Amino acid sequence: MSLESEPGAPIVSLRGVGKSFREGERRHPVLESVDLDVTAGSFVAVLGRSGTGKSTLLNLISGIDIPDSGEIIVAGIPIHAIDEQERSLFRRRQIGFVFQFFNLLPTLTVEENVLLPMQLNRLDAGPEAARALLESVGLRDRHASFPDRLSGGEQQRVAIARALAANPAIILADEPTGNLDADTGRDVLGLLERMVRDEGKTLLIATHSHEVAAGADRVVRIRDHRLVEVL
Ligand SMILES: Nc1ncnc2c1ncn2[C@@H]1O[C@H](COP(=O)(O)OP(=O)(O)OP(=O)(O)O)[C@@H](O)[C@H]1O
Ligand SMILES: [Mg+2]
Repeated sequence: MSLESEPGAPIVSLRGVGKSFREGERRHPVLESVDLDVTAGSFVAVLGRSGTGKSTLLNLISGIDIPDSGEIIVAGIPIHAIDEQERSLFRRRQIGFVFQFFNLLPTLTVEENVLLPMQLNRLDAGPEAARALLESVGLRDRHASFPDRLSGGEQQRVAIARALAANPAIILADEPTGNLDADTGRDVLGLLERMVRDEGKTLLIATHSHEVAAGADRVVRIRDHRLVEVL
């Protein structure tokens, strides 16, 4: 049985995680002795001032970065202990990532952007599957547009559709509303929350917004390189 199908089981576990970055001769510590268990199907907001390590934390959970110390187990996979190739396969299958600056591929249409993760995962999914996802974010009629023809909020909704394309168990969103006006930000947040409530996805959002955090099941904050529980 996969962890995803056991309600209440942690789908993300960090134990004693440390991460620092080199700056010339010096090592600059970002995270120290971080422990975290995230329950499958929950929404966790990660707060913290700029530069405290929110993006670093999400990048560790997605296997984009590797920790200097400690263990990170995501969907049953010890991602601190597997090689680069296995990590990228893990990421492609298990993680949907939503970025602050949308990061859509500019030379692909909206539909092609959404199809790409399906094709990379060799999922038997055609344009209709991509359009159904676009419909779920209210953008079916924009499938043939290029990203630069869309507003910021529309681009972020495409990015959410793309993040869901491979049906990942976990959605990581790094300041997903940071570049949107308040109302559009609320729409985007509503879409992400719906994925948790209706589809059982696990959602971690790094944010400065207390409004985003207000909707979370749990709020943690990074302070002095540690993770502290807020709620
Ligand atoms: N690849 C890297 N190389 C060197 N230093 C890095 C790297 N990535 C992050 N850092 C440093 O790690 C610290 C934490 O960065 P991070 O981006 O995780 O912060 P953040 O909490 O997401 O900030 P913000 O709210 O501004 O997005 C910063 O001091 C940053 O300079
Ligand atoms: Mg950040």
